[in-house]
Amino acid sequence: MVDHTPIPGDHRPRVLVTYGTKNGGTAGIANTIATALAESGVVADVRPANWVNDVHAYDAVVLGGAVYTGRWHKDARAFAHRYAKALSGRPVWVFSSGPLDVSADTAEIAPVAQAAEAARTLHARGHITFGGRLDQFAEGFLARAMVRSGHGGDFRNDERIKNWSRAIAAELSSATTTP
Ligand SMILES: Cc1cc2nc3c(=O)[nH]c(=O)nc-3n(C[C@H](O)[C@H](O)[C@H](O)COP(=O)(O)O)c2cc1C
Repeated sequence: MVDHTPIPGDHRPRVLVTYGTKNGGTAGIANTIATALAESGVVADVRPANWVNDVHAYDAVVLGGAVYTGRWHKDARAFAHRYAKALSGRPVWVFSSGPLDVSADTAEIAPVAQAAEAARTLHARGHITFGGRLDQFAEGFLARAMVRSGHGGDFRNDERIKNWSRAIAAELSSATTTP
């Protein structure tokens, strides 16, 4: 059990980075986001969306989901639904992972319908698509067939993920007033 109680006198923004993943690639993106936020002076907790049972301690949330055959991961969808009311009025950002090529680095890729719906439900300030990852340890016959036919790889672009995270940290820090 993690203690989310803010330390008295610590006025840094607190962000939950949470995600739905099947094969861990999106978890890796969430960890990169949390690390970049922490390096920018934001307190960041990172955890799977289906483990979260409370959001009251956070000033903001970053929610990510893996995309499989045009569908956004069910844990990310369920999170958006579960916490829409609790998060109303608090800043939320949404991300998706992602294409198994460099397309996400060269053009803005629109969210799939379910991710767009979650972003609307949460009044998200933004959505971004990051490249994904698929390797031989992935679950499922189709996934492994894709790897065998040369469609696997790791297309997560750390620098792009960090830049997006730094922009979030800057937005949150400029909104935080030190009493
Ligand atoms: C069967 C299968 C279907 C996929 N469908 C899509 C898709 O429709 N759109 C997309 O951008 N990526 C698609 N991908 C790529 C995954 O989104 C990518 O591997 C992602 O990083 C997986 O995240 P995870 O490791 O967190 O589960 C697909 C991958 C597999 C194996």
